[in-house]
Amino acid sequence: MFVCICRAVTEDEVHEHCSTGAMSVDAISDRCGAGEGCGTCLERLQQIVSERTATATTAA
Ligand code: FES
Repeated sequence: MFVCICRAVTEDEVHEHCSTGAMSVDAISDRCGAGEGCGTCLERLQQIVSERTATATTAA
């Protein structure tokens, strides 16, 4: 499923970037351009980052 329609970035891609160290919306944007268009996806990107951060914290 696409998270960012403007840059055709899927949710799986965003998770992959998070897995390889991109743990902020800016870092994800730098890697794939998600969020650099209309901005509609920024809230969902932040939500994914927050979920990943919470998971990483509880898994440690
Ligand atoms: S949907 Fe991501 S910038 Fe437009």
